[in-house]
Amino acid sequence: MHDEFDLSGRVAVVTGGSRGIGRAIAEGLAGAGAAVVPAARTRGDVETVAETIREAGGEARAATVDVTDEDSVEALFEEAVDAFGGVDVVVNNAGVNPDPALGRPERVDLDDGFDSTVDVNLRGAFACAQASAEYLVDGGGSLINVASVGGLVGLPRQHPYVASKHGLVGLTKSMALDWAPEVRVNAIAPGYVATDLIEEAMENEDIRQSLLDRTPLERFADPDEIAGPAVFLASDAASYVTGSVLSVDGGWTSR
Ligand SMILES: NC(=O)c1ccc[n+]([C@@H]2O[C@H](COP(=O)([O-])OP(=O)(O)OC[C@H]3O[C@@H](n4cnc5c(N)ncnc54)[C@H](O)[C@@H]3O)[C@@H](O)[C@H]2O)c1
Repeated sequence: MHDEFDLSGRVAVVTGGSRGIGRAIAEGLAGAGAAVVPAARTRGDVETVAETIREAGGEARAATVDVTDEDSVEALFEEAVDAFGGVDVVVNNAGVNPDPALGRPERVDLDDGFDSTVDVNLRGAFACAQASAEYLVDGGGSLINVASVGGLVGLPRQHPYVASKHGLVGLTKSMALDWAPEVRVNAIAPGYVATDLIEEAMENEDIRQSLLDRTPLERFADPDEIAGPAVFLASDAASYVTGSVLSVDGGWTSR
């Protein structure tokens, strides 16, 4: 029987693939049969991920990328094509959320706080989409943007992050229109996931408890719990899914 989740023969590029959610997605896609290119700024970290995938019997090539640098983004997709002959799946996962403790909107630094966040989370994702377009549109494919519950609802004290993730959800929908029917474009909107990104906020017991109280499933997600939804959106199981935002948030946005 044809397994519609099988990604054998597909090539997937995962930005921010060195740790956290990106690492889990890279390993999940590889587990479903894809050849994977995990990419982030530091080679050592992505090498470790690629090696873990190869040791498990999968195919992987580590690559470096800074998504805020267009030349580096171009080079990433060229490297993926050199390594595996094409690109079928792109996961725009690289993201930052610097110092959410900055607080009220009037205290956010426009250069360091706002621009730097939007540069990675929104502009960087769009740059990767643009650079991969020629490969995806030619061969069909799936573009997956890792947004956030902060792309669907407001979050206090996280204005640049929320703006960037709402922007990413908007881009998801409008790219889905322009690239249909060749490329499906979707977003995943995770709730709180136990990674380095939220480690600092979680050290504050009051914040931690209030986030848990707000989450119907009463716990934070494990990064691996974001991998299954990415495999689904990358695969033929999602062949009629485009322009959608899949909440993976333990019920956060149902309140
Ligand atoms: N952790 C959460 O609770 C949570 C919730 C919702 C959405 N997300 C989103 O999931 C994605 C992954 O987050 P995470 O929690 O795994 O964070 P993380 O900090 O553990 O990992 C972020 C990854 O992005 C990479 N990165 C950052 N800037 C980059 C750049 N300029 N170029 C290339 N790579 C860059 C880092 O090297 C790292 O690999 C982000 O887009 C984040 O906004 C996270």
